[in-house]
Amino acid sequence: MRKLTRELLDHLPHDDPGAMRSRRDLRRINFFMGNERWIASAIPANTRHITEYGAGEGHLLTRLAGKFPQAEITAYDLAPRPAHLPPSVKWTQGDLFTQAPPAHGGTLIANLFLHHFTDPQLAELGAWMRGFDTLLINEPHRARLPVLLGKIAAPFVHPITRHDMRVSIEAGFRRGELAAALGLDHLVQESVSWGGSIRIFAQRSM
Ligand SMILES: C[S@@+](CC[C@H](N)C(=O)[O-])C[C@H]1O[C@@H](n2cnc3c(N)ncnc32)[C@H](O)[C@@H]1O
Repeated sequence: MRKLTRELLDHLPHDDPGAMRSRRDLRRINFFMGNERWIASAIPANTRHITEYGAGEGHLLTRLAGKFPQAEITAYDLAPRPAHLPPSVKWTQGDLFTQAPPAHGGTLIANLFLHHFTDPQLAELGAWMRGFDTLLINEPHRARLPVLLGKIAAPFVHPITRHDMRVSIEAGFRRGELAAALGLDHLVQESVSWGGSIRIFAQRSM
């Protein structure tokens, strides 16, 4: 069963030195897990709008703004707009659950974001996802191998990251759980990566 525990990073001030170290760790973890490479390669070439929920420091969207110049890009996060973000990226700061769902469709990305939420919250987010043509979701796989990889990485990361890695895996998903909790009516392809991710590529059925 999933176990949801407070992640330290989500409750520290944005400019806390430990939070800044932990966000740097997160960039390295994303790199080693290949998460952003998978997302960037799976976005349909002709997509007209890219939205990311829980965009963090906006690194993925900065990369995507260069790769998909034709697409409008929109981000949501509790964090303030990152200074380096290209001006073309629209940033909405605040709790996603207090915003109106976007109506523009296109591609939706959620990377290491959905494991923060309970099943009723996921059902609410799933209703928000229905308007999107393509969904790209990457979350921690709740399994033994990611736990082992986390233990191997532990000496090399900040204590905040060490804590958050463990609780993220415990709050992660096994095959079938996430699509069911979101109540997706898209055509769903799910995969598990060697690096500890569970991934959904979903397209709206005609
Ligand atoms: C683990 S970080 C992942 C960030 C980014 N996707 C990445 O992979 O680097 C989770 C992000 O979700 C954001 N977040 C958590 N709860 C949120 C909420 N209710 N509304 C909007 N953003 C939220 C946090 O601020 C944080 O930036």
